[in-house]
Amino acid sequence: MAMVSTYCPQFNGLRRSCPKLDNAQPQSFLQHINSQLRLSSSRKPCRAVIAMAGSGKFFVGGNWKCNGTKDSITKLVSDLNSAKLETDVDVVVAPPFVYLDQVNATLTDRIEVSAQNSWIGKGGAFTGEISVEQLKDIGCKWVILGHSERRHVIGEDDQFIGKKAAYALNEGLGVIACIGELLEEREAGKTFDVCFQQLKSFADVVPSWDNIVIAYEPVWAIGTGKVATPQQAQEVHVAVRDWLKKNVSEEVASKTRIIYGGNLDTISFVVLEEVASKTRIIYGGSVNGSNCVELAKQEDIDGFLVGGASLKGPEFATIVNSVISKRVAA
Ligand code: PGA
Repeated sequence: MAMVSTYCPQFNGLRRSCPKLDNAQPQSFLQHINSQLRLSSSRKPCRAVIAMAGSGKFFVGGNWKCNGTKDSITKLVSDLNSAKLETDVDVVVAPPFVYLDQVNATLTDRIEVSAQNSWIGKGGAFTGEISVEQLKDIGCKWVILGHSERRHVIGEDDQFIGKKAAYALNEGLGVIACIGELLEEREAGKTFDVCFQQLKSFADVVPSWDNIVIAYEPVWAIGTGKVATPQQAQEVHVAVRDWLKKNVSEEVASKTRIIYGGNLDTISFVVLEEVASKTRIIYGGSVNGSNCVELAKQEDIDGFLVGGASLKGPEFATIVNSVISKRVAA
């Protein structure tokens, strides 16, 4: 028990560093883990704590959608290059395909570049499509998949989106996997069902969750100026994390061979918690420079996917820097 009261986790940016198995005594191991992972009974192991349930780094993506010209994008890149961005945030922007190369060649290395879509497999005779190999060729690191505009305007279904995600991940691209309910689905009390179904279609096919960031974007909040309240967003983020814990991590736990001379149940528990805790769950839908701070304070909101407000460099920088509000003073 003395271990619990004196133990204080180490932070690397916003990450809580993992315990070293070989340093932990078997009897105190569970207590180590409890104090590092998101367990309601043990959220305050010491006073210098960040308000972040996930152990991943804060992540902010700018989705420029089908906006911009060579000139406006040159200006946006120049504003981003001169912006002061907090260091403990992964920052990614997703320009339209035709400007990806221009942006990648002129944007600071501090910010990574994402595509807004990719084809389900290797390139070839697929008029109008862009392959993952081509994206990698021009230095793209991420792709946004399952965005509501592709689901509801273009008509992509869960299966098609899942195939794209699996292919992109297998080829080494990171995937920003979007989920979210329509207004009528929320009003019918189906928010969780819809989000879990969309999550399942990713979970059924993806090879691993290491390079996935989940973006919860309620459709009624996208581009409408009607942002979810911090409580509405937090409620879904917690549910998504719990779903991962129950449905993804168990599978990982059962597949992963772990050799350790201690209590096997304890180790399984660690793996169960780990995917859910490490996977970043970011919020999207009318995020701007004024509402980001209150949203960022929510424990299970690990960052943002930003549309309209990402087209203005200084405002996007403000959103990136909302990470500051996650740090709780000692
Ligand atoms: P919005 O878009 O910030 O303009 O609402 C978010 C998104 O579609 O990712």
